[in-house]
Amino acid sequence: MAQYIKTIAVTGGAGFIGSHVIRLFVTKYPAYRIVNIDALTYAGNLENLRDIDRLPNYIFEHADICNEQQMDQLFGKYAFDGVIHLAAESHVDRSIMDPLAFVKTNVLGTAVLLNTCRKYWNDDYSNKLFYHVSTDEVYGSLGETGFFTEETPYDPRSPYSASKASSDHMVMAYYHTYTLPAVISNCSNNYGSHHFPEKLIPLMINNIKNNKPLPVYGKGENVRDWLWVEDHARAIDTIFHKGRAGETYNIGGYNEWKNIDLVKLLCAIMDTKLGRPKGESEKLITYVKDRSGHDLRYAIDATKLNNELGWKPSLQFEEGLEKTVNWYLQNQEWINHVTSGQYQQFYADQYVKR
Ligand code: NAD
Ligand code: DAU
Repeated sequence: MAQYIKTIAVTGGAGFIGSHVIRLFVTKYPAYRIVNIDALTYAGNLENLRDIDRLPNYIFEHADICNEQQMDQLFGKYAFDGVIHLAAESHVDRSIMDPLAFVKTNVLGTAVLLNTCRKYWNDDYSNKLFYHVSTDEVYGSLGETGFFTEETPYDPRSPYSASKASSDHMVMAYYHTYTLPAVISNCSNNYGSHHFPEKLIPLMINNIKNNKPLPVYGKGENVRDWLWVEDHARAIDTIFHKGRAGETYNIGGYNEWKNIDLVKLLCAIMDTKLGRPKGESEKLITYVKDRSGHDLRYAIDATKLNNELGWKPSLQFEEGLEKTVNWYLQNQEWINHVTSGQYQQFYADQYVKR
């Protein structure tokens, strides 16, 4: 049997970012055994990992982080050295429809994991780490200027961001109270392949392709700071190996876009790819009712991560967006699978019936 130098649990590894983290870790670290713990909610998809799921150092475990017995059993079975925790309910619009689902998974689920770590690591914390993957949304909303730093006070404004903020606080409570070695990163908006088409970029790509209306909330003036998902995975690798316990690291793309400008750029890329006349796809843009409590602007100052651990984003947005569009155009089967069934009901409730 192969001898592994570390066994790491990655929660939510069948989701968008989790699948990129797993791909990076299983290929870069053949001496690590990576266990993907995922409940396979609507957002979890094992097809995201098809290219690596036969590697000997990868294992999938179908389990719910809120279930104490299941977590006990997995910690007993694998004796994890580290946990990289990504499992969450992640979509702001769904949190407005069903806030309690977010409290359950994001707050309770994180607390169950922390508690299980404490129990199994049994106060012998040498070479152990709980890495909590969080969001810039915990900091609230910026005006026209300024950036979120690690010192920005928490000010979450949606049920999603409030649940992530609560989970961050639980992590720090375990660090301070029980000295559980823990680190947190707060990242801006990710984009790239395998992104579920409830989120802005993949939803727009799919709708442009199918000549469906492009629902821009409000006036489209909200600003997001977009980061290539593989750069986020690299940052997680860096922080997991070099970050200091008890610290928080902000991760961002230095890449702010107004939603309307981003949607227009996507339309232009898609017109070229699909051989449509210039300006054709833009005609699909439809302004719809704004998101309740819609945060105006997010922008990350990632100086600490850059200065202390040497990470910086690698890819220019235009290049990343083109790669992303190519991936969606080449993976129609993946889109068909994730947009059948339950997605249709979500789409009707979110966009058609309102
Ligand atoms: P996602 O919705 O694509 O994936 C979430 C994964 O978690 C899915 O595989 C799902 O099956 C799994 N999951 C949900 N509930 C679970 C449970 N109870 N037990 C076990 N597994 C469960 O999310 P994502 O966009 O990949 O985000 C991953 C993490 O990164 C989240 O914690 C999110 O808050 C954070 N984050 C996301 C972004 C972004 O732009 N997407 C940016 C910053 C931080
Ligand atoms: O900032 C990090 C966060 O980014 C993550 O923590 C979340 O998990 C992730 O979902 C994302 O949240 P946003 O709410 O910023 O992403 P979303 O793709 O839902 O929306 C991006 C912007 O586009 C936002 O201003 C709302 C707007 N929007 C979104 C959708 C789905 C539209 O105008 N129309 C849409 O149909």
